Amino acid sequence: STAQIGVYGLGTMGSALALNMAEHGFDVAVTNRETEWIAPFMAEAGDLAAKLHPHDELEAFVQGLTTPRVILFMIPSGKPMDMMIDAVTPLLEPGDTIIDGGNANFHDTRRRAAALAERDLHFVGMGVSGGEAGARHGPSMMVGGTSHSWAQLGPILRAIAATFEGDPCVDHLGPDGAGHFVKTVHNGIEYAEMQVIAEIYGLLRNGAAWTPQEIGQMFSEWDRGPLKSYLIEITGKALQYDDPKTGHPMVDVIKDAAGQKGTGRWTVVEAVRLGQSANLIEAAVGARSWSSEKDTRQVAEAILGGARGGIALGSGTMADAFTAARILGYAQGFRLLEAAADEYDWPLDYARIAEIWRAGCIIRSAMLDDISAAFRGDLPAGQLILSEHFAQRLAACIPALREVVAAAVTGGHAVPALGAALSWYDTMRQGFGTANIIQAQRDFFGHHGFERLGEEGKHHGPWWE
Ligand code: 6PG
Repeated sequence: STAQIGVYGLGTMGSALALNMAEHGFDVAVTNRETEWIAPFMAEAGDLAAKLHPHDELEAFVQGLTTPRVILFMIPSGKPMDMMIDAVTPLLEPGDTIIDGGNANFHDTRRRAAALAERDLHFVGMGVSGGEAGARHGPSMMVGGTSHSWAQLGPILRAIAATFEGDPCVDHLGPDGAGHFVKTVHNGIEYAEMQVIAEIYGLLRNGAAWTPQEIGQMFSEWDRGPLKSYLIEITGKALQYDDPKTGHPMVDVIKDAAGQKGTGRWTVVEAVRLGQSANLIEAAVGARSWSSEKDTRQVAEAILGGARGGIALGSGTMADAFTAARILGYAQGFRLLEAAADEYDWPLDYARIAEIWRAGCIIRSAMLDDISAAFRGDLPAGQLILSEHFAQRLAACIPALREVVAAAVTGGHAVPALGAALSWYDTMRQGFGTANIIQAQRDFFGHHGFERLGEEGKHHGPWWE
């Protein structure tokens, strides 16, 4: 038994992580449910094969690990994970750690951690971001579970993580489901940002007749300034590709129906459960769902007419609107983390979370450095958008967001996420809102009662006298 860690699951992400660990000098036991995947994986590992120890049998794989053991499962989340836990636990000893590195629902992670704790086994839910390239050369990792597991895992994960100015983008964020929850919210922010980018593309394409090439160049230019981010970078690049088959811009031959595996939806569901509303993320999830109704939209365009033209705004206004939406999207994500930390008693360190998102992950952007600084500084009411830095930046960019949303609405272009961003911002800056009316209505029709300003207790309106 010489391997410091075992990797079960040699799909895209598992293989990449195993190779990354081997490259950093760790001895890694590897196996896969379909054992015929193992030999090709070893063959492709080249020189790194010396650090990789393949096993056909689960028992031998487990026996090949130094104790207390650390086993990383990179398999589909849900049932397969429960099945593997059942299969592997009889082979484990107290103090061993099982890690689920997939995009699991944190409720499952909490349940599994609690069940395994009864047998003195540790279960770590770990969010891994950055896709295949990230996993191979440096992902961002959001780690839950016990301090015991973190002591085992930390040195390996710090070695393989992406780094931002030398600081590894990984940390232990809290017990049980904390890591998977933070990853889920990361993905929610990812959805929001992707949707906002798509909306800006749509405005320029359908509303101002820009070519994909021109829009791509605009994003690439943004990527050289303060808006620098991975999603802006890859969108800029993708828009400038042509389809080798037809010669058309590549994006013109991609069907406009977006897939989704569940993490965005979970973020929205959890927001609602926590009494929150991450409306930018909701808008993004909803937009993906609407996108899949392509047949209906095509019939509708013939009957109702689609929007064309009407947008006379340039790159500068779009960039400012995007900046405002990005701030608000991140802010909603962090607000959600805060609500979950309260609910589940997690000691989440928001500044640190922003730091481990600065490199390796899909939502990495230059803004995350400012976010971590804001969390380390003075935050009125604990809100990111009220920090001096972000309040000022919003003040500078909100007029552009208004211009963009107004032009979109007038021109009939859908901007669900940009519109949601603005509605949230406008709601939150209103000290006296309109929920007094909701309360009056509830009391009027249902005798539900309301609180009076500055008075404790339940009151009713004169309509009941
Ligand atoms: C990441 C990504 C990654 C993946 C998700 C989201 O952080 O590396 O979020 O986990 O892209 O599966 O994908 P969907 O868009 O399919 O929900």
